[in-house]
Amino acid sequence: LIHGLIERTADLVLQKPRTVHISPTYRCTLKCMQCDLWRLPNDGELSSSRWIGVIKAFKEYLGPFALKISGGEPFLVPGMMELVERAKAMDLYVGISTNGTLLNDETARRIVRAGVDEVHVSIDSMNPKIHDHMRGAPLAFKRAMQAIERLASLNGETKICLATVITSLNLEGLMDLVIWAANNPGLYTITLQALFQNFGAPYDPAWWKRSELWPRDRDLVTSVFDRLMDYKSSHWELANPMNQLAAMKDYFLHPDRTPTAVCHAGKTDIAVDPFGGLRLCFSLPPIGNLLRSSPGRLLHSKEAAKRRKQIASCKRSCNLLNCNYEDVRRDSSP
Ligand SMILES: C[S@@+](CC[C@H](N)C(=O)[O-])C[C@H]1O[C@@H](n2cnc3c(N)ncnc32)[C@H](O)[C@@H]1O
Ligand code: SF4
Ligand code: SF4
Repeated sequence: LIHGLIERTADLVLQKPRTVHISPTYRCTLKCMQCDLWRLPNDGELSSSRWIGVIKAFKEYLGPFALKISGGEPFLVPGMMELVERAKAMDLYVGISTNGTLLNDETARRIVRAGVDEVHVSIDSMNPKIHDHMRGAPLAFKRAMQAIERLASLNGETKICLATVITSLNLEGLMDLVIWAANNPGLYTITLQALFQNFGAPYDPAWWKRSELWPRDRDLVTSVFDRLMDYKSSHWELANPMNQLAAMKDYFLHPDRTPTAVCHAGKTDIAVDPFGGLRLCFSLPPIGNLLRSSPGRLLHSKEAAKRRKQIASCKRSCNLLNCNYEDVRRDSSP
């Protein structure tokens, strides 16, 4: 009873998250150059029935929320479509991020029939050789495009979106990809993602100096971002906010600079790792495990308060990640 009262009082002060990102697995069908998640251990992943329990617990605590399913490759998880269908039956907003390699006809039909709100398919370049090189597999582009075609041919309500990570390899052709996506009637939006240190790798502040994916041609960075911002002014299909594009340009030109934006991690968006660990920030340790405690308890725990302090003073640049970004300046924030 006392704990319930404390939680309710704390809820008046703390804003409840609106989006829960789950990674039911770090395993993957691909080994992309920009990602090390597939290298991580996978012992103790929750089963899809456990995930349904976790999602129900969030629904009880948060009321309606957006569930974003990512990974690893989500369609590697047995029972993934049952999980998705149950989440839709709970009236949640559901989005899935995928590399497309496992999205067959049957899965596409179930996605659309269940009323999944958005599917983000990763496409890094219109040039199949560049996409396949970045994604580490010869047929990655073909399979991702087939996934898009399968979903689009069903003419359902599911929004089909592209997700693209910006690197030295695809920067030159980025405008072509954005224009193609914006003009494709089957697609809803394209979202660009600045390159960060490989997901899943231990933090190294100088990672970009060693990365062959880091764009080093400063004139090219400037001209591509200027064109993107010009395009954005008349095309909502490029989903990134204008100020985020400007911040990305700055980030690519000055990777050593301390970011001026406060990191938004753990406020509107929180994440659950494959083992049930609830995370306010993807790279800091979990605040606890949802197999042993409820979302409300964990979000109001001492560990959560400690993590919020760490986030407020964090000087890394991954506040630019799409799930963390908020245009709040350090000097003007309360
Ligand atoms: C981690 S993946 C998981 C979903 C699925 N496997 C896929 O590739 O779409 C989600 C998104 O993160 C992006 N990503 C991976 N590593 C990244 C990095 N180091 N920096 C920025 N984005 C990255 C991927 O390109 C993909 O669009
Ligand atoms: S970015 Fe996605 S497809 Fe590529 S290795 Fe990571 S999880 Fe797999
Ligand atoms: S900038 Fe934000 S998301 Fe990145 S490590 Fe720091 S707290 Fe986490």
